[in-house]
Amino acid sequence: MCGIVGYVGKRECADVLVDGLKRLEYRGYDSSGIAVFQNGKIAVEKSKGKLVDLESKMEKQGKPQGHCGIGHTRWATHGEPSDINSHPHGNKRVTIVHNGIIENYRQIKEFLIGQGYGFESETDTETVAKLLDYFYSGDPIETISKMIDKVNGSYALGILFRDFPDTVFAVRKESPLIIGLGEGENFIASDVTPILKYTKNYYLLEYNEIAVIKEDSVTICTPEGKEIHKEVHTADWDVDAAEKGGYEHFMLKEINEQPVAIKTTIAPRIQEGMPYLEESGLTMEMLKNYRRIFVVACGTAMHAGLVGKYVIEKLARVEVTVDIASEFRYRDPLIEKEDLVILISQSGETADTYAALKMAKERGADTLGIVNVKGSTIARESDIVIYTHAGPEISVASTKAYSVQLSIMYLLAFELAYAKGAISKERCMELTKQLADIPEKLNEVLGIKERCQFIASRLVNAESLLYIGRGLDYALSMEGSLKLKEISYIHSESYAAGELKHGTISLVTEDMPVIAVATQSNLLEKTISNVKEVKARGAKVNVICTEDVEIGKDVANHLIKIPKMEDLLMPLLAAVPMQYIAYYTAVLKGCDVDQPRNLAKSVTVE
Ligand code: AGP
Ligand code: GLU
Repeated sequence: MCGIVGYVGKRECADVLVDGLKRLEYRGYDSSGIAVFQNGKIAVEKSKGKLVDLESKMEKQGKPQGHCGIGHTRWATHGEPSDINSHPHGNKRVTIVHNGIIENYRQIKEFLIGQGYGFESETDTETVAKLLDYFYSGDPIETISKMIDKVNGSYALGILFRDFPDTVFAVRKESPLIIGLGEGENFIASDVTPILKYTKNYYLLEYNEIAVIKEDSVTICTPEGKEIHKEVHTADWDVDAAEKGGYEHFMLKEINEQPVAIKTTIAPRIQEGMPYLEESGLTMEMLKNYRRIFVVACGTAMHAGLVGKYVIEKLARVEVTVDIASEFRYRDPLIEKEDLVILISQSGETADTYAALKMAKERGADTLGIVNVKGSTIARESDIVIYTHAGPEISVASTKAYSVQLSIMYLLAFELAYAKGAISKERCMELTKQLADIPEKLNEVLGIKERCQFIASRLVNAESLLYIGRGLDYALSMEGSLKLKEISYIHSESYAAGELKHGTISLVTEDMPVIAVATQSNLLEKTISNVKEVKARGAKVNVICTEDVEIGKDVANHLIKIPKMEDLLMPLLAAVPMQYIAYYTAVLKGCDVDQPRNLAKSVTVE
């Protein structure tokens, strides 16, 4: 969720911090602040609202001048978004920024009140700041270690001690944090995007490792003070990838990046025309022996799992259960050692998906992470990891990550089906070839944006909308519906078209537009019957279908036609009009497309 940036070097620290925080804006936040050493003292500025609010406050009051400091964008969990609750927190001696949740903050607070401490904010974070002050012995490592022992929950912390005006300290548990390694300057950050401008080299901070960051050195040690030698990672994202590159919004840019993202993701996983996942450690032998598959994820990633279920069950005849991670972790699922549990996550940091991973491991199943962010928690802790190579996804609304997740699910389904002997080598090669053709077809689909813009203009005044479909179209329309509601704030529901008349059709009136997804040739007639049913009740119906299909004006008001491919692969193409429709509707409504209200890009709390 929120973002942390820290800097030590020769540059004007406040500028580096604010610029870095801007690059983390996409993660979602409601307030921000910085703390900078100015003439040996910790100067703090913070403000509710967006970074521009902090900037204008600093313009009026003067921004802290100095070369060492920490910054934060907050996504409130304890206490409303307000100036007082914004980070940094602490006092003149210790000041911190925090990402995460301190579960036992009440007990700590009570204890500290008993010791004479006062509290200004309602945050859990302030208790950690004051606890550090309470333990402060003149030795920061010892102080941080004592704090770690007492605190439960998740945290990434950037810490300043007044007595060490040239040093940023950092520690993490569950919430992500990296250490950027520059020339004569070093950084901390929630992910690599803020550091790309300065350096591509970084360390991944592991649980409860304490980092001591100075201008010309970075030392990492255990809580006992033992120095640790870390591997230097190199980011393969460049700074352009994290910028808008002429597009009005990141979301639009990312929709358009899908052909390249899919190509980059699948190309290394196809060898001699066959899917090749062995490199990640997933062998044919393993695939042959799995009894069942669980796919666990949240939001869009879960929707990618739903499409995967249809495809795997259809081709490989292996049972697949798809779960929402927050449900899975508490429902005591029947996982056995012979099962494969697949965790899908763009960020690789989603708290519920990570909890599901831990549970699956405890129960002895093999775990496979399908993850976009390199070195993220889920990637590191899964037995097998397959990286999707989508590059940074900045827009909160996931688009290209969905397509690359689907692409990997397809490759997996093809290889599994072949390993199980459910399809021939020829069929496997034919399917793989069709998947490899998708990027080119997608370039064609991306050309229908005007049509989607027009449909969006028809939806913009709706209060509620229905997506309908059958089979794979139903699985896909769940994603279309989520996309629309999360960025345009129009209520929308996705419904299995055949299920409508069991209740929901009573909602259908001329005020409720319907989008029907009808790309599955074997279900086309059935879906069209359902389209007629809603049309007969006054709904304005838009149908997403393949170019060969003829549907009269009497049946649907508007059609969006896309190229035809094998039914199984259609979701990869049909996702685009749904993404465009959501995007243009949100733009027409004047919504903040890339940072919708209340949402965070990476959900690191339960
Ligand atoms: C979708 O647009 C959302 N951003 C959200 O549903 C997202 O897919 C979900 O939070 C899962 O995130 P992850 O892929 O990083 O685990
Ligand atoms: N729990 C802290 C707060 O509410 C930190 C939230 C965050 O991760 O931004 O202030």
